[in-house]
Amino acid sequence: MIRHPMRAVVVAAGLTAAIAALSPLSEAPAGFDNLSNGMVNDSTHQADQGKFDEVEAISDGLGPLYNAQSCRECHQNPVSGGPSQITELRVGHRGPDGRFRNADIPIARGRVVISGRTLVNDRAICPNAAFPDSEIQERVPDTETIRTRRASLNLLGDGLVEAVGDETLLDIAREQRRTSHGQIHGQALRVPIVEAPGSTGVGRFGWKDQHASLLSFSGDAYLNEMGITNRLFPDEITTICNTVAEPNDKPDSTGLADVDRFARFMRATKAPARDTLLAKTPKAMTGSALFDKIGCATCHVRTLTTAAAGTTINGGTFTIPPALGQKSFHPFGDFLLHNVGTGDGIVMAMPEHYGRKVYQIVWKAFSTVWPARRTRYARRRYGVSACAHD
Ligand code: HEC
Ligand code: HEC
Repeated sequence: MIRHPMRAVVVAAGLTAAIAALSPLSEAPAGFDNLSNGMVNDSTHQADQGKFDEVEAISDGLGPLYNAQSCRECHQNPVSGGPSQITELRVGHRGPDGRFRNADIPIARGRVVISGRTLVNDRAICPNAAFPDSEIQERVPDTETIRTRRASLNLLGDGLVEAVGDETLLDIAREQRRTSHGQIHGQALRVPIVEAPGSTGVGRFGWKDQHASLLSFSGDAYLNEMGITNRLFPDEITTICNTVAEPNDKPDSTGLADVDRFARFMRATKAPARDTLLAKTPKAMTGSALFDKIGCATCHVRTLTTAAAGTTINGGTFTIPPALGQKSFHPFGDFLLHNVGTGDGIVMAMPEHYGRKVYQIVWKAFSTVWPARRTRYARRRYGVSACAHD
């Protein structure tokens, strides 16, 4: 780049306008105001939020196994799309070869075994009036010895995270290795894009980076959290006491299904706003400098920039709109997997995400790694965070 200040002044005047027109790099909007980041108008955004907030009933296809009736039940602090205190249970065990195995959970008094996933649903729609004798509540057998609770994540600003180019994340991993002399090297994991069969992207969503696309995650969550089958995840976990035809989620008069609206809602959210009052305090400023100085920012990357508007991602199924293109935001994370000694032993990128087909990554270290994430706590303690990820 131009290093000499005098030259910079001369050249800058002419170039600024041209560069701005070609690549208008700007700060992404942040806030907890329920307004769109500009990707759609506010009334469309609020209608999409209505779907995200909607409480589903058995007649909508809820269950048979589920965790909650609405996306908002778990993603709502301080507004719809934020994180929450709700955790969910994942379990599994090691096979005779020492490798991780998905759980086998008997239901219906042992007649049926739910296998091929680690998630345990905490609720079920039966027994009910129509099926008084169907008992399908999942209960963890003693043989599932690896158990963990996972916190619900923030979704605000996730459209920006999705729009970060794969190569940007790969570059961060390379740069970590270089600057730390090989001591830190985040792992990028390529995961399938469910809506574009055969294509993959660098995973960045979920505690184990199990998805790269917000539409894929929407389909996954609608089935696995709420039991609502959809075009991306068309098969029920169990059909005992199931009454609504598949897929439960059907397109409306505009051609959009709920999963499309969830994805658009998340993509149009603003990034979480910084606590500007706290950030101005001397303590926060000292902490922020320290954060950089001692290397926290190596993994908790302050600023990421999304790919240009017009770039296609997710196997060619999504084109980055102007509102999400060439935007800077501050996730305080690198979305790469790191082994920081807190892993729960559960291997992800699993059958529950990719149909019921086995897609198991058998790599031992993988079960102990997490993506670096920004944190409310870092913000409180160090005043450093203005974040698009929790
Ligand atoms: C019962 C609680 C619960 C419900 C209901 C729920 N989620 Fe989540 N969500 C979670 C948890 C827990 C995680 C972290 C899962 C993991 O990685 O193990 C998560 C993660 C996510 C992520 C990844 C976010 C990131 O930045 O990494 C997305 C996207 C998401 N959920 C969307 C949805 C949508 C859309 C719905 C409604 C269809 C939904 N969720 C319903 C609990 C829930
Ligand atoms: C090698 C990469 C790496 C470095 C360096 C690093 N972290 Fe982290 N950090 C992580 C990962 C990965 C997690 C998620 C771990 C988990 O949840 O178990 C995390 C989680 C956190 C959390 C909790 C996040 C939350 O939302 O709950 C805080 C706070 C935090 N780090 C602060 C720091 C500070 C302060 C430093 C510097 C002293 C630092 N980290 C250095 C990778 C790193």
